[in-house]
Amino acid sequence: MRRVLFAANWKMHLGPEEARAYLKTFRARYNRRDDRDVWFFAPAVSLEAAAQAIRERGDLLVGAQDIYWEPKGAFTGAISAPLALQAGAKATLVGHSERRQLFGETDDDTRRKVAAALASGLAPLLCVGDTLAEREAGHTTAVVTRQLAGGLSGLDGGALARVVIAYEPVWAIGTGRNATPQDAAAVHREVRAWLGARGAPAPRVLYGGSVNVKNAAELLAERELDGVLVGGASLDPDAWSQLVQTGAA
Ligand code: 13P
Repeated sequence: MRRVLFAANWKMHLGPEEARAYLKTFRARYNRRDDRDVWFFAPAVSLEAAAQAIRERGDLLVGAQDIYWEPKGAFTGAISAPLALQAGAKATLVGHSERRQLFGETDDDTRRKVAAALASGLAPLLCVGDTLAEREAGHTTAVVTRQLAGGLSGLDGGALARVVIAYEPVWAIGTGRNATPQDAAAVHREVRAWLGARGAPAPRVLYGGSVNVKNAAELLAERELDGVLVGGASLDPDAWSQLVQTGAA
C-alpha cells in the first residue's frame, strides 16, 4: 500500500499554547488512516507541547525545523539533535531553502546536520530545490544533484534509506505558483535515480511549494510524489485536516 506523507512546516508560527490548541482541533477532525502519515515541523519552543499533544497517535509525528550538528556545547541560540529529541522530536528538516537563502546554510552544513540527525535517531528530511534563475537556465538537475551530493555524501545505503527528501523549488515557495505534477515528477525521478545508485532504491520523496487543498489531489495523483511538505496551507488545523484527507476513499 502506498503510504503518503503529509508534512506541515509551521515555520515561525504557533507558540506552545497555539500548538496545543491546533493539535487538539486537528486530532478531533482527523482520525488515523493506515495509508498516510502526518508530520508537524514545529518551532523549537513548541516542540515539547506539540509532542505531548500527539503522544497517543502513532500516525502523527513532531519534528524540528533545524538543528545544529554539535551534540552540545557553547553554541548560543542553537539546538542540537539530542535536545530536539529530548523535547519529543522524531525528525528534523535540514537545508530548507529559507535556511539556505536567509541564514547562509551551505551544502556542507546540511551534510553535518544530516549526519548529526542520523547519529541521534532523528529522521532527516533534506530539502533541495532550484531558484527560478537556475530553472530557466536549465540547471535544475545540476543544482538538485549538487545539493544531494553535498548533504548526503559519505552515507551508506542503510543510512540513506532513513533520509526523506523534499523537492521544493524556491520559485514555488509561498508564491502561489506550484510546480506542475509533471515538473515535480521529473525531478523526483532524478532524486530516486541518485539515491538508487547509492544503495537506497526506495526513498520517500516529497514535493513542496504552494501546495494547498485545491491542488493537492492533482499533485498526489502523480505516483512519483510520496507526499507533500506544506507551509502556509498547514497553519489552520481545519484546512490542514482537510488537506491530509486528500485522496481518501
Ligand atoms: P508554502 O507551502 O507556504 O509555499 O511553503 C512551502 C515550504 O517551504 C514548506 O517547507
